[in-house]
Amino acid sequence: MRAFLSVVLFGAAAVALVSSANKDGDISFEYHRYDEMRKALVAVWLRCPSIVRLYTIGESYEGRELLVLEISDNPGIHEPGEPEFKYVANMHGNEAVGREMLIYLAQYLCIEYQNKNNTIAKLIENTRIHLMPSMNPDGFEKAASQPGEIKDWFAGRSNAQGIDLNRNFPDLDRIIYMNERQGGANNHLLQNMKKAVEDNTKLAPETKAVIHWIMDIPFVLSANLHGGDMVANYPYDETRSGLAHEYSASPDDVMFQSLAKAYSMYNPVMSDPQRPPCRKNDDDSSFKDGITNGGAWYSVPGGMQDFNYLSSNCFEITLELSCEKFPSEDTLKSYWEQNRYSLVNYIQQVHRGITGFVRDMQGNPISNASISVEGIDHDITTAKDGDYWRLLAPGNYKVGASAPGYVAVIKKVAVKQDPAERVDFELESVMERKEEERQELMDWWEMMSETLNF
Ligand SMILES: *[C@@H]1O[C@H](CO)[C@@H](O)[C@H](O)[C@H]1NC(C)=O
Ligand SMILES: *[C@@H]1O[C@H](CO)[C@@H](O)[C@H](O)[C@H]1NC(C)=O
Ligand SMILES: [Zn+2]
Repeated sequence: MRAFLSVVLFGAAAVALVSSANKDGDISFEYHRYDEMRKALVAVWLRCPSIVRLYTIGESYEGRELLVLEISDNPGIHEPGEPEFKYVANMHGNEAVGREMLIYLAQYLCIEYQNKNNTIAKLIENTRIHLMPSMNPDGFEKAASQPGEIKDWFAGRSNAQGIDLNRNFPDLDRIIYMNERQGGANNHLLQNMKKAVEDNTKLAPETKAVIHWIMDIPFVLSANLHGGDMVANYPYDETRSGLAHEYSASPDDVMFQSLAKAYSMYNPVMSDPQRPPCRKNDDDSSFKDGITNGGAWYSVPGGMQDFNYLSSNCFEITLELSCEKFPSEDTLKSYWEQNRYSLVNYIQQVHRGITGFVRDMQGNPISNASISVEGIDHDITTAKDGDYWRLLAPGNYKVGASAPGYVAVIKKVAVKQDPAERVDFELESVMERKEEERQELMDWWEMMSETLNF
């Protein structure tokens, strides 16, 4: 940690010069190798220190930092009631476009905040945004160090141990499919299993770091940026039957389709119905409006997307941003133009559905309370301050809040497109309820005694 900070500060002095040489507001559309990426992120931090924090969640196998740039009006803290959002890119080290998009997005948000762009300022004030441009910095270095413009299709995909990180997460789909048949938890399937994760020798260091990150921060919404195709892919990724291709709806299928479209519809190429497949023989038959169910496209066991949904409150989709995994540098500006409004619009989706606090009758927060929605077999839990976010498509819902030792409360809620509906719950403890009932009985007895003149 200490070493990291001193390196960052050392880098900072050099970067200040570089960035002041740039014309104000400019994003330089180039590839960033590891050191360049770090300098670019430090430059954003130096330019917008009041809204930016740079942190690391761990190291890659070869010891590169897994850097995250956070953007928020109060960087470094979870503000009660404010939702948390993340983008993760370059998990496959040779899929380079997403990595650059997140570096440019960091620069763009900082610049637009400084320019007092109302939309961006509001977004930053109401959301804690985390950007991880590279989950596989070792793989990227391998891919990028190949000479020439044309890169091998696979070199650098895996981490330095040869592990495909998007097949390396605990396979919680198998557990949820069993629970669907036999009964059992419908959320947080790794609860109380942190030690098992720690001891699991099959997990790459990059995977392990991201698992802890997912489980420690109350993320609400996320996307995982890939390349090699053009589509917004939503859960589940792994098929129920084990077939290679099968539509595999999650309980939140309606909302996930809406989220995926919130990305694809702002990307004119991704959503173009006339767009030919990336390669002549590709089977894009499951694509519609630039979106696809993961399992309907092809089954992925051990992926990060389904892991988010099944181990935490976080809804994640997977974005394929480019037919080429490592396109030539002079195309990066056009990829940014295709994706910038999608990237911003997708973050805004975190403010949909219902949100609020669960507290006891004295106003104390109840953490780890369950929020359940009738007809959707996937509960959300409250964070430390009793705050929760339940993404939902427009409609009428019955929503319940419950916690062990408390009397559950159910409310009817009408959800519109946005913003999120505020719904708070006050739960009475079972003890309080019993005491109340005893008091009522005594009052009744007293009244009867007086009436009957005992
Ligand atoms: C502010 O940002 C939004 C979202 O990126 C964008 O659509 C809009 O054009 C920007 N406004 C100005 C004045 O640049
Ligand atoms: C949260 O609640 C669940 C179910 O009530 C329980 O199994 C779990 O241990 C709780 N987690 C924490 C961190 O308290
Ligand atoms: Zn990929």
